[in-house]
Amino acid sequence: MEQKGTQVLETRRLMLRPWRESDAEMAFANWMADPAVTRFLTWTPHGDIGLTRARLRQREEECKRPNVYHWAIVWKDGDILIGDIEAGTIDEYQQTGNLGYCLSKAWWGRGIMTEALTEVLRYCFEEVGVERIDGSHAAENIGSGRVMEKCGLRYEGTRRKGFRLPSNGQWVDIVCRGILREDYFQGENP
Ligand SMILES: CC(C)(COP(=O)(O)OP(=O)(O)OC[C@H]1O[C@@H](n2cnc3c(N)ncnc32)[C@H](O)[C@@H]1OP(=O)(O)O)[C@@H](O)C(=O)NCCC(=O)NCCS
Repeated sequence: MEQKGTQVLETRRLMLRPWRESDAEMAFANWMADPAVTRFLTWTPHGDIGLTRARLRQREEECKRPNVYHWAIVWKDGDILIGDIEAGTIDEYQQTGNLGYCLSKAWWGRGIMTEALTEVLRYCFEEVGVERIDGSHAAENIGSGRVMEKCGLRYEGTRRKGFRLPSNGQWVDIVCRGILREDYFQGENP
C-alpha cells in the first residue's frame, strides 16, 4: 500500500477535492444545518456557521496528512459544493478505510453518491492499494445501504441496537458491509 492522501479526483459530473475552511458558507447553507441530512449521522445540525468554520479549519489541516482520505464533493457545472465523502484515516498496518458520506438534500436521488463512492473505491483499491473498505449504516437508512450495495460492499451482519442516534435518542440496528481487494478486482491480478 502507498499512502497518497486526499488527492483531487474527478468523475463525469463531480470533482472530489480536499476541504478548505472557506467552504464553510456553502457547506452550512447546503447541508450542515439540515436535520433531514443529519438524521442518521453521528453529529447534530450546526446551529451557527462558527461551528462549521471551526470544523472545516480542522478538516483542512487533516486533509494535508498522507493517511487521511476526506473529500469535499463539488458539482463541476457551476462549482457548487454539495457534499462530503471520506474513507477515514487509513492505518498503514490495517490498510482498511472506513466510509462516511452525506449530500445536500436538494441533490439526493440522482446517483451522485454512487458516482462519488465508485471513484473513491477505485482510488483506494487501484492507486492506494488498500485491503478492505468498511461501511455501516442505520438499518432504516435504506438509501445509504443501497449506495453501498450498488458499489459492491457486501452485507456482513447487523449489530442490534448498535448505535444511539443523536437526532432522537433512539437505538438503531447497524448494518455492517465491506468490500475486499479480491472482491474489487474479482479474479483480475491486482
Ligand atoms: C444516503 C445518501 C448519501 C444517498 O445519496 P444519493 O446521491 O441520493 O444516492 P444515489 O442516488 O446514488 O443512490 C440512492 C439509491 O437508494 C435508493 N433509495 C433512496 N431512498 C430509498 C428508500 N427510502 N427506499 C428504497 N430505496 C431508496 C435510490 O432509489 C437509489 O437506488 P437506485 O439507483 O437503485 O434507484 C443521501 O441520501 C444522504 O446524504 N443522506 C443523508 C446522510 C446519510 O445518511 N449518509 C449516510 C450515513 S451511513
